[in-house]
Amino acid sequence: MRTPKEFFLPLALGAPDPLREIPVKPSRMIHFFDPSNPKMAAKVPQIAQKVDVLLGNLEDAVQADRKVEAREGLIKIAKNTDFGDCALWTRVNSLDSPWFLDDMLRLVGEIGDRLEVIMVPKVTGAWDINFVDQLLAQLEAKHGLTKPLLIHAILETAGGVSNVEEIAGASPRMQGMSLGPADLAASRRMKTTRVGGGHPGYLVRTDPDETNPEAPRTTAQQDLWHYTMARMVDACVQHGLLPYYGPFGAINDPTGCEDQFRNAFLLGCVGAWSLHPNQIEIARNVFSPPVDEVAFARKVIDQMGDGTGTVMIDGKMQDDATVKQCHVMVNLAKLIAEKDPDMKAKYGF
Ligand code: GLV
Ligand code: MG
Repeated sequence: MRTPKEFFLPLALGAPDPLREIPVKPSRMIHFFDPSNPKMAAKVPQIAQKVDVLLGNLEDAVQADRKVEAREGLIKIAKNTDFGDCALWTRVNSLDSPWFLDDMLRLVGEIGDRLEVIMVPKVTGAWDINFVDQLLAQLEAKHGLTKPLLIHAILETAGGVSNVEEIAGASPRMQGMSLGPADLAASRRMKTTRVGGGHPGYLVRTDPDETNPEAPRTTAQQDLWHYTMARMVDACVQHGLLPYYGPFGAINDPTGCEDQFRNAFLLGCVGAWSLHPNQIEIARNVFSPPVDEVAFARKVIDQMGDGTGTVMIDGKMQDDATVKQCHVMVNLAKLIAEKDPDMKAKYGF
């Protein structure tokens, strides 16, 4: 492990200084597009106005014989598009793939000043992050970049989940993490073919009625991802990173998508991936704090004065801890209001 003093030194001569803190701005939806698909590429300027983050995907979902088109397409799009205040990210191919090295060499060389975050898939331990960290420092120095590129790890292997804390703390470049439920399910040999969401077989059931054993027993579907999400959120917060839910594959189930996103939001995540334009609005609604809760939080902050002691508001006890919860809600709402005029009007800031 690097010592605390070494941790914030650049890893290559001439590379920019690592950031001490990850910039926090709205990233409610990370909208994926395939840069090798001309139809999707044509829509990028229009979608950039609607989303917080646009991500040029080079990894899974891009056909093996389209990998180079995707990479070169992303370079072209990045150079020719005005993204406004929408952040541009990419997901490169995995470290063991035949495409990873050229993804990094081409992207950092050509558009390293436009990209903010590089999403690294199938991370299994801190060593993966250390490797990407060093390579990025070399490339930043070579190309005279002045702002460090950040790394986002996808939590989608059993090894990655086991090592989640070390991954989160592996580099000052670590921006965040997303849950990758599809690869994670495969890696763990979970018996689901779904991309995120619940499963009707994963449930709890009430006890049998002893006087009437044949009576129907109520069941409730449980969240398959709760354990992993909770570990990811704690590791991220502990290391100053942002946690995200990843993909929800059932595009035809907006309600299920909303539920999955909301579970993640309530647990502490700041955003999710949108794989289809229909999911953009779902993510915007879910990851912007609810208007009535923000209004209530403002009332608590107001009435709590210096933030100590207790007050009763609408029959609910408030104290030093709840006022902190309220600050989390209001601070996030303020951040979102700065970027989203609709939400600003709704919050009344
Ligand atoms: C995302 O990459 C996933 O595997 O779910
Ligand atoms: Mg994956």
